[in-house]
Amino acid sequence: MRKSLDPLARTALWTASMRAREHARADRLFEEPLAALLAGLEGPQIMRGFEGEVQRGVEDPALAVRTRFLDDQMHHAAEADDIRQFVLVAAGMDTRAFRMAWREETVFYELDRAALLRLKQSLLDDAGTACLYARRTVGVDLTRDWMSPLLAAGFKPGRPTAWLVEGLLYFLTAQQRDALLAEITHLSTTGSVLLADYVSQTSLDSPGMRAWLVKMADSGHAWQSGCDEPEVLLGRLGWEALVTEYGAPEADFGRWDAAVVEPGVPGTRGRYLVVARFGSLQV
Ligand SMILES: C[S@@+](CC[C@H](N)C(=O)[O-])C[C@H]1O[C@@H](n2cnc3c(N)ncnc32)[C@H](O)[C@@H]1O
Repeated sequence: MRKSLDPLARTALWTASMRAREHARADRLFEEPLAALLAGLEGPQIMRGFEGEVQRGVEDPALAVRTRFLDDQMHHAAEADDIRQFVLVAAGMDTRAFRMAWREETVFYELDRAALLRLKQSLLDDAGTACLYARRTVGVDLTRDWMSPLLAAGFKPGRPTAWLVEGLLYFLTAQQRDALLAEITHLSTTGSVLLADYVSQTSLDSPGMRAWLVKMADSGHAWQSGCDEPEVLLGRLGWEALVTEYGAPEADFGRWDAAVVEPGVPGTRGRYLVVARFGSLQV
């Protein structure tokens, strides 16, 4: 079944594989017991292909760092902001609805391609895995109308929501990204939180990124956009964004090595994590 996934959906096997590897470490930054099952045999193959050919055999710590950072932010949204409605936009093989503890009445919506979500569900069912929280999977194309299916699945736009957009934005063109962010904003009320990872356009344009971009495009899942000023991009829509670069004290966890692949341009932002709050800015 994994073979029939489209190339973009297959990137979810890759990230699951990286989480499985992290789970196997004695000093792991998070626990992810289902990741190996979901990644299957293909996830590690894709991961090793990139690490061998483009990354000079270097293990990229970004996935572990971003997972832990976003875990903490989601936990904060639940505990400090009392958010009970979460939308995982391009959820892939994310199992946060299973592997983390949430408040009563928490609802998860997982958006992704229908074929991927079907595969994920069948693997979880076969393993006898039950989710303790309400979890609704919604098969969509995020570049078309995904709002109607989400609303039909029970999503409540009047409730503060935590949106997680992890591992997606660079796969969209700038136009698709802008449309998606506008749609998320349309469904957001004051107190909502938007969590994402992204990359600067300057970094994408740098010579050090060329091999990575070529291999990504050749594999059928090109990185198509970046953004140098996410605060401005989100600020225009009414979000107040705090941007944290990988390797900053809050996104290091003792793992970041400045010499890893995807170096970006010295003195500019490379890859970063975003925590944005809706309704606190006057626009
Ligand atoms: C790198 S994976 C990230 C998955 C997960 N968020 C994670 O961090 O492991 C990218 C995901 O985006 C999904 N995706 C990309 N473009 C999409 C689209 N137009 N509609 C729905 N899902 C899409 C893919 O199916 C895939 O699951």
